[in-house]
Amino acid sequence: MAGEKIITPPIKCQGIKTKLVPFIIENVQRDENGLWIEPFVGTGAVAFNIAPARALLCDKNRHIISFYQGIQNGIINSSTVRDFLEYHGSILEQRGGEYYLEMRSAFNQNYDPLYFLFLNRSDFNGMIRFNQKGEFNVPFCQKPHRFSKSYITKICNQVSRVSAAMSGRDWEFICCPWQNAFAGAAANDYIYLDPPYIGRDTSYVGEWSEEDAASLAGYAHQTPANVCLSMWKENQFRKNGHLFEYWSDFTWYEHSHYYHFGAKESNRHPMTEVLAIKR
Ligand SMILES: C[S@@+](CC[C@H](N)C(=O)[O-])C[C@H]1O[C@@H](n2cnc3c(N)ncnc32)[C@H](O)[C@@H]1O
Repeated sequence: MAGEKIITPPIKCQGIKTKLVPFIIENVQRDENGLWIEPFVGTGAVAFNIAPARALLCDKNRHIISFYQGIQNGIINSSTVRDFLEYHGSILEQRGGEYYLEMRSAFNQNYDPLYFLFLNRSDFNGMIRFNQKGEFNVPFCQKPHRFSKSYITKICNQVSRVSAAMSGRDWEFICCPWQNAFAGAAANDYIYLDPPYIGRDTSYVGEWSEEDAASLAGYAHQTPANVCLSMWKENQFRKNGHLFEYWSDFTWYEHSHYYHFGAKESNRHPMTEVLAIKR
C-alpha cells in the first residue's frame, strides 16, 4: 500500500478509522500468512488498507455485512450503485426530507443494502443508529441536492476500489457478536480491535458497557493470536480509565489529533489515540 492513496470506504460511521490508517499500518507487524481478524469491522477502513490475503471481518450490524457481501459477490457494483443513487437521488431532489423518510421506512421493511447506502450517505453526519426495535432512525441531512453527479461518482469510485481490494483475496464477512471472531484464532493470526466507546449507544446492539469492555480485554489477553487495540487515551478534560486499568501491559503507541468545537482556532482540542499492542 506504500505510496498509494488510502482507500475510503463507501459506508460511513461514527469512529471510522480512515485518518488513523497510516498510523495503524506503521505499527502493525504481522505474519502475512496469518489470518487478519476484525471482530468490529465497521466500515472496513482498516481491513481495506491493510489488504491481508486472508481475513475474517465481523460486525453485529448485519446491514454493513450484507453490503460488503453484496460487493464481494458482484451484486453490488459501481453501475448498480450509480443507477440506484441517480434514480432515488433525483426524487430526493424534488421531494426532500419527505422522500428520505419514505426511503427510511422502506429500508426498515426490506433491509436492502442499497437503501442502506442511500440512507447512510444522505443522513445526518453519516451516522448509523437504530432504535430498540432495530429500525434505522437517523434523521435527514437536510440537503435535498445531496446526490449530485460528483457525489455519486465519488461513491461509485469508492465501491470500485473496495471491490478491487477484495478481489482475489480470501475474505469472509460475517454478522456475529464479537466473541465468535476469537474462536480458533491461532498464534500467527492478528486481531485488530476497534470496539465502541464505553457507555455510548451502539444502536440496536445496545450499550457497550464496562462489563463488555472488561470481557473483551479478557479475551484479548487469553487468545494466542497477536492483538492490537485502537482506543482513545485522553483529551484535556478526561482520561480513559478503562485503558489504564485493563491494557497497560500491552505496548502503547500514541497519536494525537485535533478536533473542533467551533470555527475558532482557540477551540481546537487535542485528543490522544492509542494503539495498544500485545508484544
Ligand atoms: C468503532 S466501530 C468500528 C469502526 C471501524 N474500525 C472503522 O474504521 O469503520 C465499532 C463497530 O462495532 C460494532 N459492534 C458493536 N457492538 C458489537 C458487538 N457486540 N459485536 C460485534 N460488533 C459490534 C458496531 O456495529 C460498529 O460497526
